[in-house]
Amino acid sequence: MKDFGYDISDFRDIDPIFGTMEDFNSLLASAHSKGLKLVMDFVPNHSSDEHEWFIRSLQREDPYTDYYVWQDPAGFDGDGNPIPPNNWVSVFRYSMWEWREERQQFYLHQFVPGQPDLNYRNPNVLTEMKDVIRFWLEKGVDGFRQDAVAHIWEDEQFLDEPLSNNPNALDENDYDYYDHIYTNNLEGTRVILAEFYTVFKEVEALDGFPRLTMLEVYVSIEDQLKYYKVSDFPFNFALMNVRGPPVKAEDAKREIDQILDRIPTNYTYNWVFGNHDKWRLPDRIGGSELVDAFNLMSLSLPGVAISYYGEEIGMTNNMDISYEQTVDPAGCNCGPDHYNDEPCSRDPERTPMQWNAEFNAGFNSEGSSEPWLPVNSDFDTINVDAQQGNPQSHLNLYKEMIKLRNLEPTYTFGDAKTQLDGDILSIARLQEQIFYDVYVTMVNFGSETQTANIFQSFQPYLEFGLVLISTSGPDGENPIGTVVDLTSISLAPYQTVVVRLTPSKA
Ligand code: NOJ
Repeated sequence: MKDFGYDISDFRDIDPIFGTMEDFNSLLASAHSKGLKLVMDFVPNHSSDEHEWFIRSLQREDPYTDYYVWQDPAGFDGDGNPIPPNNWVSVFRYSMWEWREERQQFYLHQFVPGQPDLNYRNPNVLTEMKDVIRFWLEKGVDGFRQDAVAHIWEDEQFLDEPLSNNPNALDENDYDYYDHIYTNNLEGTRVILAEFYTVFKEVEALDGFPRLTMLEVYVSIEDQLKYYKVSDFPFNFALMNVRGPPVKAEDAKREIDQILDRIPTNYTYNWVFGNHDKWRLPDRIGGSELVDAFNLMSLSLPGVAISYYGEEIGMTNNMDISYEQTVDPAGCNCGPDHYNDEPCSRDPERTPMQWNAEFNAGFNSEGSSEPWLPVNSDFDTINVDAQQGNPQSHLNLYKEMIKLRNLEPTYTFGDAKTQLDGDILSIARLQEQIFYDVYVTMVNFGSETQTANIFQSFQPYLEFGLVLISTSGPDGENPIGTVVDLTSISLAPYQTVVVRLTPSKA
């Protein structure tokens, strides 16, 4: 738990904190019996320093001697302290190198020192990790999210990395201070991922069940295309680039269009606007007014919509965690003055799910052990229980949109087009060849009422729109069931509606 699950001491077992392998097996069986798929996190870049491989590697015990990236010191300083091989700095600050007396060498860790990087130049490591994938897939797991894949491969010359001149870097110990040309997103990474992908295909061929592999990789669109060749899809974090306040409709349009325009339609699109490493949406954009807008946009767009727990109820960051309570190494390493700055501590977005307004938001019962992070104090209003009975709640709008997209083939087979009218962004789903219905999700990003004209923007004849989902209740603007004239649709501040185009007012 040096990086809360991302430091693995046995790739084939369950940490006792979470239960046993029997518990896991029954979780998997019960998910499958309900028609749910279960996808795990696969962490190929590093193990824990408590992994048996590392302990043996430290002792130069074959065949583990080169299972990790070991390097001699660049020299020794005046006090006899070893000097790291180069200037590489880890994602969570400070040197990427950790000295071990036992071997009189440094080992590489792109994340915390408790996460030594595996050495994929050693073919045994690749074989071992392919076997790990096979182990879980053969157990019946439906796929993997592959962690931090851009970090798998490093340049073998171990040269210093150039400075980035990024003004957001805290100091020279900060990851952002350097341009990671020798440690991130190298071609070798994709060679390894291609090897992993073959295991997915092999197991699928054996039992006939499709398996999913998605990659956590923060790269340009050009590079996303390369990662599509070695996975089902790399995560698309474009919606995370939309910031505020104020959030601009044109920014959302630009981010969405770049993906729609540049990723071929035979690739699987996907949309992520939050995860356990980034501030929650309301804190990132400066308010909760657009929570429904983001949920409805991501569920309206083509492909896979990915939700981080709590997004469906509009959970916010817990910014009341003190430095003393902070557990995330990324936060601790930023120190007491900066730990709560973005992107330092990730604790604020990792607090317990808010189920109800009772003890610890219903996450655990009174008298049992405390959750690992304090519950956000807004749990008395932002919780599942409070939202369940309210048709206008974040939760119910989210559910309505899922129902619609599951029901209507346009959402599975249709293309997507966008249009901007002032602060209103319209995202249409349509299938031109076949006569499926056309659906348009319209978001007013502005704080004033705005009007849009989408007549003939997406379909030549239909003049009206039937409102199927609306963030306004019965007394507000455009409630459910309203028929709107496509030449002039007025949306209240921050309102989102989903309309089906229709020929008549009836
Ligand atoms: C990315 C994960 O999402 C993050 O939580 C973790 O700290 C690093 N990879 C290291 O595994």
